[in-house]
Amino acid sequence: LNLLATARRAGRELRRRMPEFAGSRQMDLLAEKLVLEVLQEAGEFFVLTEESGAVMLGNEPEHIAVVDPVDGSYNAMRGVPFYALSIGFADYSPEARLLDVHTGYVLNLHTGDEFEAEAGRGARLNRRRIACRRTELERSCIVAYCTGSSLPRLEKLLSSAKRVRTFGSAALELCHLAKGDFQAFVDLRGYLRNVDVAASLRIVQEAGGSVSVDSVGLSRIERLSVLACCSGMEEELRRLLQP
Ligand code: IPD
Ligand code: CA
Repeated sequence: LNLLATARRAGRELRRRMPEFAGSRQMDLLAEKLVLEVLQEAGEFFVLTEESGAVMLGNEPEHIAVVDPVDGSYNAMRGVPFYALSIGFADYSPEARLLDVHTGYVLNLHTGDEFEAEAGRGARLNRRRIACRRTELERSCIVAYCTGSSLPRLEKLLSSAKRVRTFGSAALELCHLAKGDFQAFVDLRGYLRNVDVAASLRIVQEAGGSVSVDSVGLSRIERLSVLACCSGMEEELRRLLQP
């Protein structure tokens, strides 16, 4: 079973239907149903997916598929062109953890850009290799999410970066970190879900980035904080995040 080919097929189908789905209140559910149909046709999977949670396709799945049918739903529903399908794959085990995801696929549903990675085989955008691009912190662009209560912890980091951005799709933002557009992604709200970032964390790692996350599994939806950055920047960032 070619996992990336299966993910691309789901992506192609979903992108074709997206204009129709985006006008519906049921957008996320419709998108999820379509992705589940493509997976079911391809093989047996244990699926963890944003709307329905855990879904068993078949009796003896060899793979876990971690699906966010539309990451950036708010953007999609308002016509802001930054939202994505995200599918990560891991070997099936009830004990599998988030960072066991070995294959990641993220499709920008607006532009059609495909980000992919397989463990040990690098990361690609539209089949061409991509890599994180480290800069000095003073010259960096950092993606940050915060709420009132996590803002004080971020203050030193945010004032050290040259630019701070927030686009509303964690999956895609992490892919752009992998492509070298941003130097770090920080979300300390404890509010992201494993399904949001399963695929893109693999893509960041294969692009030479470093990720640190709360330890969460893949058997149910779990929330977590994420710090991802170009390798070599972790210590400096962590120091700035100290209270
Ligand atoms: C959201 C996006 C966003 C993040 C939110 C997520 P959704 O996912 O990833 O970047 O800040 O916490 O819920 O709901 O659009 O799939
Ligand atoms: Ca999401």
